[in-house]
Amino acid sequence: MSQFLADVQASYGRCLKERGFITRFYELLLERDERINQMFAKTDWSQQNKALRRGISIALTFAGGSSIVERSMKEMADAHSRKGRAPVDPALYIHWRESLVQAVSEFDPRFNDELGIDWQQALKTTTDYFTAHY
Ligand code: HEM
Repeated sequence: MSQFLADVQASYGRCLKERGFITRFYELLLERDERINQMFAKTDWSQQNKALRRGISIALTFAGGSSIVERSMKEMADAHSRKGRAPVDPALYIHWRESLVQAVSEFDPRFNDELGIDWQQALKTTTDYFTAHY
């Protein structure tokens, strides 16, 4: 694993140790765009929080260049594609990345600008993949 990704993984671990990290992320994401808010109107949050915890972990492994998560990535991308269960307009992914990095900056006590750039880069790898499968 590259150093930049090891730093992001460690940061993610610190965030998950704090209570309320994923909840805070969704709070930020939903208030950024009314279309996003609407999409989650009927969501079971305890399930969704778990799904995203796992999803981010897969995304970071993928960003590190590991192909063991290729299948899981494809399933998530399919779910968010035009024909999927929860289609997501690729134009909305900027909100996903920025809300997540904002939540990390609030929850990781060792957050700094450089780490923020590393996070953005890792998350972009995932949203680019989703966009290509849209
Ligand atoms: C703006 C960006 C995004 C929006 C608006 C969005 C929206 C949604 C919605 C509406 C659902 C279904 C919730 C329900 O069951 O009610 C969902 C499920 C899910 N999303 Fe996203 N999503 C976004 C980005 C992502 C990204 C980048 C990932 C990858 C880490 C991801 C991972 C997941 C997973 C793992 C599920 C659960 C899928 C399942 O039920 O099998 N999402 N998302």
